[in-house]
Amino acid sequence: MKKKIFSGVQPTGNLHLGNYLGAIKNFVALQNEKDNECVYCVVDLHAITVKQDPKVLKDNIRETTAAFLASGLDYRKSIIFNQSLVPAHSEGSWILGCIARMGWLNRMTQFKEKAGKDKEKVSVGLYIYPILMAADILLYDSTHVPVGEDQKQHLELTRDIAQKFNNDFKTDIFPIPEPLILGEATRVMSLRDGLKKMSKSDPSDYSRIMLSDSEDEIVKKIKKAKTDPLPLPDNLDDAKNRPEAINLLTIYAALSDQEIGTVISEYGGKEFSQFKNDLGELASAKLSPISVEMNKLMKDENYLDSVIIKGKERAINVADPVLNKIYEIIGLFRG
Ligand code: AMP
Ligand code: TRP
Repeated sequence: MKKKIFSGVQPTGNLHLGNYLGAIKNFVALQNEKDNECVYCVVDLHAITVKQDPKVLKDNIRETTAAFLASGLDYRKSIIFNQSLVPAHSEGSWILGCIARMGWLNRMTQFKEKAGKDKEKVSVGLYIYPILMAADILLYDSTHVPVGEDQKQHLELTRDIAQKFNNDFKTDIFPIPEPLILGEATRVMSLRDGLKKMSKSDPSDYSRIMLSDSEDEIVKKIKKAKTDPLPLPDNLDDAKNRPEAINLLTIYAALSDQEIGTVISEYGGKEFSQFKNDLGELASAKLSPISVEMNKLMKDENYLDSVIIKGKERAINVADPVLNKIYEIIGLFRG
């Protein structure tokens, strides 16, 4: 059976190694597998659930598009587009919001983390964000959704919404999409604190390797990465109790396409200094071609904009007929 793949990345700047290993690297592999139909979306409407500077939002949309292309996505093989240019996402989101239950949204841990103590003051958009994500996915008949570990719960909500819609209206319009949480590095942690997720919003630049970093910056950030004073662990159980060590080992494994066990058997018992040299070399070899290409593309706004516009037309051709069917099923006019 053909896999229909959909995923999205928010254009909120500071794209990092976690985005690459947890998501974009897998997008490319899926695109290059025979028979897959892939749709990759720059989800700008998700980005505005928190305050964005209008002067930088467009640049960030271009940056995410550039990161997709520089990592190996090809707009001729995959549909690459920008969410807000396809109105079906907002329209579909309203309808699915009438299917989703409050109790389901109230369980979303990412909302609780992002809202923190200030739940009364965050935007309503942040709360209903997973419904928009469900619309993204369901408008493309998606069967598989590659994401990092942190999005698993949102995918479960999408599945619940799809199932309830199908049941309520006695239809099978929506396939129930499967999460694809692939590779060794499904949750890359901060280089400054092995218990915190690597994130775009961490105030410290040293917490993350950015896709736009130069070779020197990559090597320097790995050298400065927090470790503990012991030599590297020589088995997985010990590694699991040492958050910084397992994070660096996982990054090495993912970048070299090996299993973590293989990396542990190579480096177990050795000093961090040697390992960090090798990891720095590996990371700059794998990432700097992306960064060079990305920085080059960022200078060509016209080209990036043309990719976004081409993708828009193709996305509309898939999403609009699905939205029409949804209107039909629920008894609305669509003219
Ligand atoms: P976002 O930047 O939140 O739009 O995330 C885009 C993609 O990157 C999603 O599939 C996330 O699950 C993934 N991702 C974000 N941060 C990490 C991380 N630290 N480790 C692994 N995957 C991540
Ligand atoms: N919520 C996702 C994140 O923050 C981004 C996203 C939006 C997405 N729509 C999606 C991911 C649809 C997969 C499929 O990472």
